[in-house]
Amino acid sequence: MDLKSEISFDRQAFRQALGQFPTGVCVVTCTAEFEQLGMTMSSFNCLSLDPPLILFSIDRKAVSLPLWEKAAGYAVNVLAENQKDISNRFAKSRSNKWEGMRFAHGQCGAPLLPGVAAVFECIPWAKYDGGDHTLFIAEVRRFASSVDRMPLVFSKGRYAALQTTEFVASLWPLDIHY
Ligand SMILES: Cc1cc2nc3c(=O)[nH]c(=O)nc-3n(C[C@H](O)[C@H](O)[C@H](O)COP(=O)(O)O)c2cc1C
Repeated sequence: MDLKSEISFDRQAFRQALGQFPTGVCVVTCTAEFEQLGMTMSSFNCLSLDPPLILFSIDRKAVSLPLWEKAAGYAVNVLAENQKDISNRFAKSRSNKWEGMRFAHGQCGAPLLPGVAAVFECIPWAKYDGGDHTLFIAEVRRFASSVDRMPLVFSKGRYAALQTTEFVASLWPLDIHY
């Protein structure tokens, strides 16, 4: 029995349930065939500490996906809570996402955005079929993180911000972290 085809999801309910899991918001960038690419993504996640691997996934319908497959490096720009406008800019398909945008050139060949909460510069590690998405796994070569910028949050289809009181006081790594 093909279990997958037996299950019929209410897609809307599925999306709604997934939205109960808050994420950060990133603009992942790369350069391919001399073109700069940037895409707002919430699918970024940590994968492995040793080797240092991260992952993100791109919708097969994304116009720029064929170019992403050719990139020799990526930068994951983790947006700060005051960067909603940058998130919206890089979420618009087929738009001129880079018009008037300041950036620096990263060492892995991908543009670095100013004012972000953290940045991870990576090289490709593996790509997998992820259903209607392609899963990218990348090895982190360099990273930087801001101590005082708070991250932008995405939850239930909306932007949100973290409440600072307890967060600032907590120690890292937490006792309960594996
Ligand atoms: C908060 C947020 C998170 C997103 N996360 C993803 C993601 O993880 N993967 C993805 O393919 N698209 C994601 N998108 C949509 C893409 O940003 C958008 O479809 C993309 O910029 C289209 O690029 P294109 O010009 O290649 O078609 C997200 C959009 C928003 C607003």
